[in-house]
Amino acid sequence: MKIAITTSSFGRYSREPLEILDRAGLDYALNPHGRKLTETEVTDILAGCTGVVAGTEPLTSAVIGALPSLRVISRCGVGLDNVDMSCAQKQGISVHITPNGPTLAVAELTLGLALNLLRRVSVMDRELRSGTWRKRMGYTLSGKRLGIVGLGRIGQAVANLFSSLDVFIAFTDPVVDDDRYERKELGSLLEWADIITLHCSMPKGETTLIDEKALARMRPDAWIINCGRGNIVEEGALHAALKSGKLAGAAVDVFHSEPYSGPLLELDNVILTPHIGSYARESRIQMEIDAVKNLIVALQAE
Ligand code: 8YV
Repeated sequence: MKIAITTSSFGRYSREPLEILDRAGLDYALNPHGRKLTETEVTDILAGCTGVVAGTEPLTSAVIGALPSLRVISRCGVGLDNVDMSCAQKQGISVHITPNGPTLAVAELTLGLALNLLRRVSVMDRELRSGTWRKRMGYTLSGKRLGIVGLGRIGQAVANLFSSLDVFIAFTDPVVDDDRYERKELGSLLEWADIITLHCSMPKGETTLIDEKALARMRPDAWIINCGRGNIVEEGALHAALKSGKLAGAAVDVFHSEPYSGPLLELDNVILTPHIGSYARESRIQMEIDAVKNLIVALQAE
């Protein structure tokens, strides 16, 4: 049985996930490019494979349709926006995720980015390296209002962390409720919050969630953090709001097209990271082990 692993850094921080595959007698191919694969690359690598440990590469209907032997997609991660689920279902492919691994890592990154935005750490780091010793005044996180968009596993972990630092929490979510925090409509959450953080997937049938109109509801001294998915925010509208001072700052970890090389790079009031929400060693190893175990169990059930 041939399987492939398409995430870019699999097995780098622990051999255990690969050893689990060896013990199960599975032959595997690793991602040879060390980055997110294109449709053509993933189709080539998965040719003749029964299972895949998948990253965020496009598993579109064209890709899945070209892979008649594929039986199991085991995502090393939680997002399924890159998988054409109806096509997978039609072909009888079972799809699995690692729901727990990324939670704490993404929540802690969100906290770090919030502190960085409020204290302007990245800005002053750049200035000092280029010869400017300038003390910029920041803000405390304590006492701020955090609006969480999406109160799933990650949103709840974010709420937990921030509330222990005396941050006021409110959220919006179409299904989840939690009486510890105030629930609001998206529009009033955007108006209320000092910091908005996005931990949702794209609502069904929509192409974006935070567009020009949504950003206009935020206060000019507010910040936004996106460690969810790039397509939730209209990048052009975010760029315009940050450039014109309609928004104080943003931290962006996920992009429409990755690797990112767009106009946000020119702005000083945005922190940019290369989709590293789950890149805390402990979380990554947990995700890889869970993904491999999910794959083995699913293949055995075939
Ligand atoms: C991963 C993610 O880095 O969980 C997700 O959906 O976006 C990240 O945790 C990504 O899935 C690649 O494995």
